[in-house]
Amino acid sequence: MDNKEINELKRFFLVTPLGLEQLAAQELVFWHKEAKDLEELKGGVEFTSTFAKACELNTCLKVPSRILLRLTDFRCRDFPKLFQKIQKIKWGGLLNSKHMDIVTSVHKSRINNRKRVQLTVFEALQKSKDASLKLEDIKPQKLFIRFFNDQCFVSVDLSGDHLHQRGYKTFSTDAPIRENLAAAMVYEMFGSKNWTQAAEDIGKIKLIDPMCGSGTLLLEAAQLFTKNKLRPYGCDKMLTAEQLEKPGVFEESTYQWAGLEGYDISDKSIEASHQNLANTQNVSLRKLIKFQEQDIFKADEIENNEAKPPDGKPLEKDTTVQRNWVICNPPYGERIKTEGLRNNDFHWLIMQIIKKYSPENIGILLPVKNVRGLKPIKAYKRRTKNFENGGLKVSFLILQKKAP
Ligand SMILES: C[S@@+](CC[C@H](N)C(=O)[O-])C[C@H]1O[C@@H](n2cnc3c(N)ncnc32)[C@H](O)[C@@H]1O
Repeated sequence: MDNKEINELKRFFLVTPLGLEQLAAQELVFWHKEAKDLEELKGGVEFTSTFAKACELNTCLKVPSRILLRLTDFRCRDFPKLFQKIQKIKWGGLLNSKHMDIVTSVHKSRINNRKRVQLTVFEALQKSKDASLKLEDIKPQKLFIRFFNDQCFVSVDLSGDHLHQRGYKTFSTDAPIRENLAAAMVYEMFGSKNWTQAAEDIGKIKLIDPMCGSGTLLLEAAQLFTKNKLRPYGCDKMLTAEQLEKPGVFEESTYQWAGLEGYDISDKSIEASHQNLANTQNVSLRKLIKFQEQDIFKADEIENNEAKPPDGKPLEKDTTVQRNWVICNPPYGERIKTEGLRNNDFHWLIMQIIKKYSPENIGILLPVKNVRGLKPIKAYKRRTKNFENGGLKVSFLILQKKAP
């Protein structure tokens, strides 16, 4: 793609987990103040920007699962027209793989055979001279063809692998949370505050995950305002080496938590968390985040027992941190259980968290049905954010301590 083309305004779409569209829009504006004409739709956010900036957003945004370039849309009620329109698109520079993954959806349209849509698009691409230039034998590239009300929308993927695959999490445990959902949970704890102000405030807060599994929530919290350069992105291949090397437009921020502590009853989880932390290749994070084996219900051991860094040396007690926030994703009690918790009594679990950490804010991810039945806790205001986690409807319950 030439320099003129990468700086032209185009329309893009952030594919976002259902229920997190508004957070994704907020995150987009946080990084990209000049993004124009934002439109929140079901499952994503559309906006106008340049190709160069949209490519760079792959490294910045933590909530979306991919970024698409909206190529064109046209009215289409028959296959010959689809063939002709696809063939005519200026594909040069947009396609890079010999292998296409043509993702189709059809709703309320005369064309309703998805398989035939795929075949027609594939054949049209093969016949298009413009599309067959410089194709490499690499992973399939995703092309999205959506029919709605007889309108055909064509989009091309700019992300490559799903964006939740950050590149640091090679070690996993039972029921890990997806990285983009984890990041969304951390953002959601900021509440209605302006994010820049919230980001400045995290320097006074210690974030604790008492059931950290492979460490996802804390690792996402620690890297919220940094760019992810641990993996390649689909659009890297669409840019020249010179365009890729140019310094980006979006600046990383230096906001960081006062501390991050993760605990888990399982030694394997703590080992996985340490390995994932090492994979971030960020030396300062290794000093900041501590993971340690610990049972949430063994309250009395905690007081003088701060988490230890990987080298095992005890830490000096930090007396400057006044405010604790707790974030957690406990087992839901169906496939895996919270050890020591009877009858899925999540109220009791929350009371235990309060007793142990006296947190100012608690964010806990539970199935919707369990949150509905929870008793109120006098000293805390509550709000919820619902989304889906691995096909299950979940509710992120946030309890915020009332002012005295
Ligand atoms: C759903 S997983 C958390 C997954 C984590 N968010 C991640 O992304 O990897 C729940 C974790 O709670 C831990 N756990 C269960 N009972 C516990 C207890 N009594 N105290 C501390 N951790 C416990 C399990 O070992 C498991 O790692």
